[in-house]
Formats: sequence, structure tokens, C-alpha cells
Amino acid sequence: MKKVTKAVFPVAGLGSRFLPATKASPKEMMPIVDKPLIQYAVEEAVSAGVTDLVFITGRSKRAIEDHFDKAYELETELQMRNKAELLKIVRDTVPKGVNCIYIRQPEALGLGHAVLCAAPVVGDEPFAVLLADDLLDGQGGEPVLKQMVDVYNYNRCSVLGVMNVPREDTKQYGIVSTERDVGDVQRVTGIVEKPKPEDAPSTQAVVGRYVLTGRIFDHLRNLKPGAGGELQLTDAIASLLREEAVLSYQFKGVRYDCGSKFGYLQATVELGLKHPEVGAAFAEYLSQRGL
Ligand code: G1P
Repeated sequence: MKKVTKAVFPVAGLGSRFLPATKASPKEMMPIVDKPLIQYAVEEAVSAGVTDLVFITGRSKRAIEDHFDKAYELETELQMRNKAELLKIVRDTVPKGVNCIYIRQPEALGLGHAVLCAAPVVGDEPFAVLLADDLLDGQGGEPVLKQMVDVYNYNRCSVLGVMNVPREDTKQYGIVSTERDVGDVQRVTGIVEKPKPEDAPSTQAVVGRYVLTGRIFDHLRNLKPGAGGELQLTDAIASLLREEAVLSYQFKGVRYDCGSKFGYLQATVELGLKHPEVGAAFAEYLSQRGL
């Protein structure tokens, strides 16, 4: 029985919605309180049992590689100053036994193309895809990808993380139709990328978490450009589900759309309030402001 040990992080996007912050540094390095978005996604993957992190990077994404690399000067400096706690934080960005693999996506041809770039490393194994823009705070501290890997382990087929969205928002997401509409786990009967509200088959939107079987790569190889002229992962999944079962999973937790300024601010407030060091003082500040 093949386990999910590989996760793909497509991080080659431009991050144009956050200019000028993203002019010279990757959007995935933007912090929520004190941790970059990409590290939240990596921690989620590792706690779901992932041991190989496959980053699909592009130009001006060097900071991501540096972040998950050893930082000799910084570590020596912290050691000399006896800053044990900070040293641990710096060393723990990648836990022991976890490998980082970097693949360059030379052109931004779409999410489907980014995932296809991982094919030589993933082979025909099941794997996860995490979009770091989507920050998922699992209910009761149970990481959302872990919940999805449990669903995968039980059913042995691809699993898409979904949530219900207002109908006017369907044009921002991949939208699934399912056999029934009661229960967390559903068999997907169709999926379309960014339909207009009047054309959307449902209001069940795919968030940036996928567990896919290795069969997806054949479907990605045969893709034609879809919505926005890009090679869409959604279209490959639509083709995959004609061959094998694909499930949707209504995850337990909250999703913050950190690809938008509003979602980014929401995540900052909510995770700021929960933060062990500053949470209490921040709550006090907000209440003084009458918020
Ligand atoms: C991508 C996917 C879309 C999915 C969304 C989740 O879109 O193409 O199907 O619903 O991520 O965040 P993007 O937000 O990159 O345009």
C-alpha cells in the first residue's frame, strides 16, 4: 500500500496582487505574524506524514530555497549569543528526515503545468498538492492535509479539499459537482474551473489542497489550455474522474485566502490572537479600540 510521502508546492506565481511587497521577494515568504506562508503549508504537509517536499519554483524565488536551507552565519551568531530558543526556531524550518527538492518552472503556464513539472520526482505514487496562498487552520489543531490523507488511506483515490462559498464567488474557484450533497466525503461527478455564478454546478469550491494519484500526470500531459489560456489542474482532474474515482472532502477548519489582501489581514488578526507570545496583548489592544 503506497503512502502519501511527497508534497508539491507550486510557488512560481508572480504574486502581482501584493505589489510592491512582492517585487523582489516571493509572495509565499510573506509572514502571518512571524512565519512565512510557505512554512505553514510545509508544516501542514509534514504533520500529514510527508517526507519529500517538492517546490516548483521560478525566477526571484531564491528566498524560499534559502529559508529551508541551513543558515550557517545566523546559527553561529545565535549560538554565540546563547539564544537557544531562536536557534531552535531557525533549525526547525525543516525537520530531520525531510528532504527539499526544487524544480524550476521556466514559464508560468498554469497550475496544471506546475504540477506536471513534479512528475519526474513523484512517479506513479499518490502525492499532495498544497497552494501556500490558502492558509488552512484545521479544527482542533488537526491539520487539514492530515484529515485528507486519512480519507485517502481509507478510500485509495484522489481527494479534493472543498468548502462551500457564496454563489457570486464561484468564478474564483474550481467548482465540483457531486453524487449527493450530504456528508463530508462525496464522489465527484464533475469539476469546472472558475464558472460564472449562473453556470456553476454547485457552490462547493476546491481550496488549495489536493491528494492525487500518480494517474493525474497522464491527464496533465494531454491537457489543452483552459480558463485564462492556462493549463489547468482542474481540467486534468475532470479528465481523471472519467477513469477513476475522485472524492471531495469538506474539511474541518477555517481557510484564509492569503492571495487576497482581505484574507491576508483576516489571517493576521486571527492567528495574531492565537499567538502564544503576542495573542493576549493583541486581544487587549483590539478591545481597547472597541473591536
Ligand atoms: C487555483 C485553482 C482553483 C482553486 C484555487 C484555490 O486557482 O485553479 O481551482 O479553486 O486555486 O485557491 P487560483 O487561485 O490560483 O487562481
